[in-house]
Amino acid sequence: MIKLINLSLILSLFFSLITSNLVAQQNMANVYGRRAQSLNGKWDAIVDLYDQGRKNQIYLNKKAESKTDFYEYAFENGLRLNVPSDWNSQMPELKYYEGTIWYGRKFDVVKENNKRLFLYFAAVSYRCRIYLNGQEIAQHEGGFTPFQIEITDAAKENDNFLAVEVNNSRQVDAIPAMAFDWWNYGGITRDVFLVSTPKVFIDDYFVQLDKTKADKINAKVKLSETMANSSVTIEIPELQLKQTLKTDAQGEVKTSFLSRKIKRWSPTSPKLYNVKISTRDDQIEEEIGFRNIWVKGEDIFLNGEAIFLKSISFHEEIPQRRGRAFSQADAVMLLSEAKALGCNMIRLAHYPQNEYIVRMAEKMGFLLWEEIPIWQGINFENESTKEKAGKMMREMVARDKNRCALAFWGVANETQPSEPRNAFIRHLIATCRAIDTTRLITAAFDLVRFNKEKETFVMDDPFTKELDVVAVNKYLGWYHSWPVSPDKAVWDVAKGQPLIISEFGGEALYGKTGEKDVVSSWSEDYQATLYKNNLEMFKHIPNLRGTSPWVLFDFRSPFRFHPTNQDGWNRKGLISDQGYRKKAWFLMKHYYDNK
Ligand code: GCU
Repeated sequence: MIKLINLSLILSLFFSLITSNLVAQQNMANVYGRRAQSLNGKWDAIVDLYDQGRKNQIYLNKKAESKTDFYEYAFENGLRLNVPSDWNSQMPELKYYEGTIWYGRKFDVVKENNKRLFLYFAAVSYRCRIYLNGQEIAQHEGGFTPFQIEITDAAKENDNFLAVEVNNSRQVDAIPAMAFDWWNYGGITRDVFLVSTPKVFIDDYFVQLDKTKADKINAKVKLSETMANSSVTIEIPELQLKQTLKTDAQGEVKTSFLSRKIKRWSPTSPKLYNVKISTRDDQIEEEIGFRNIWVKGEDIFLNGEAIFLKSISFHEEIPQRRGRAFSQADAVMLLSEAKALGCNMIRLAHYPQNEYIVRMAEKMGFLLWEEIPIWQGINFENESTKEKAGKMMREMVARDKNRCALAFWGVANETQPSEPRNAFIRHLIATCRAIDTTRLITAAFDLVRFNKEKETFVMDDPFTKELDVVAVNKYLGWYHSWPVSPDKAVWDVAKGQPLIISEFGGEALYGKTGEKDVVSSWSEDYQATLYKNNLEMFKHIPNLRGTSPWVLFDFRSPFRFHPTNQDGWNRKGLISDQGYRKKAWFLMKHYYDNK
């Protein structure tokens, strides 16, 4: 018996070793600025509701050759799905689908002996296994961050068969977990590229203004190989800055530039500079902005000036299409509505959104709050969940660290106080700080309550002291009735720190009017009353430094059950799912225009 146990132990260790190097790599910096072949388009697909595909090795894509060969599957001539796109919005039968769908396609490559090839996925929701030419080459978990796999050796000149096994089933140890207030879209939801690089390439770089100095730019570059004495040139032509340095033993260079001519980025003046980085064989460039952001007392300073954050939240969803946003055009649609509202910031709820949105927001002049979906009931006691969250945080921070618009990293949304939660969040903060020490760390809490004796709104979660900025989701007039009239509200929350109202609001069905004091009316007039009352209360919060109404657009959620008022939609949008502005939109616009 003992022998058997040892054998099974050895085997499981062996297989875990094999699968461990199947973890997809963190991707190289700025994929969108590289030589890449798009693999977007229609892919073949097989809906695998009972998870039979992997054990039947359908990723081999076998074809009958002899008279007795027999395969009960084929990728060709069947279902085809758009990539990028969620699958839910592509056909009625997949609206609620939670399970496995296989995607398959062929591609050719030009094999050059001094080049390397990588498969890049901007996101796959929620977990996936990647198979190339019949071999499993990678796995990834997390529906909102990119990953890559090197295929230099595995790829052939012609007829490479790529199979992607995608699964979006909710699980207790996942992030997000079993229930969350947005649609559980599944699929290859963002771009897929084939990226070609030189043998030794510029793998990563981080160029940003010093945390507190207006004239000092810090830069570090990492090559794909740990080779010393290799020349790297960093140049910002518009500022006449250029340095050529030699890499250290880790293949890295670190340096600073001084210039009194830096025009700092801000929402009102979103100045970006062309930054070029080059080596003997590789060169890459992108638009990078330079700004300072820090907290002092109860104020948030951008470039040395105290600011008020006129924010809004939106999901990565195009309501008219009932699907995930994924393109440049989608980004313009969402961001232009935020601009029209008079915002200078966006809380990208509740997960890292696609790079088109992040890069376009920076160009249009929005500060950004980004977060991974630590949304309510996460399995904080589970060590592997904590590791997963750390990896998602690392992938998000690594992807967007050169985006000066990114000002806040959100590390939790509506979590309840506990030591496991604190340890989990501390791990996220440390993971973030290991890459980026300059941005502000925040988290949204829903723990503000009204203390009747003191007649004051208070919040007792000591963890707030570990954050740079405290944020509060508070639904007065919706989930909570008013314990005091808005003009008499007294807040004693996060004294000595900047406070943001990161969510407030209520639902309204566009076009429904009247009953302005009836919560269950779902009328625009009630929603407007709610906004008027909250905006009145905000005048009485001494350390309030920003507001972010929940939410810009009505969005889809499987637990919004009311058949006429909701019908599977969360109607807290200031704009309806068809793009019509509700009465509350105009109140918010007036508030921001006069802030
Ligand atoms: C919570 C949560 C949101 C949710 C909102 C609501 O605050 O953070 O994701 O959609 O409340 O109930 O509408």
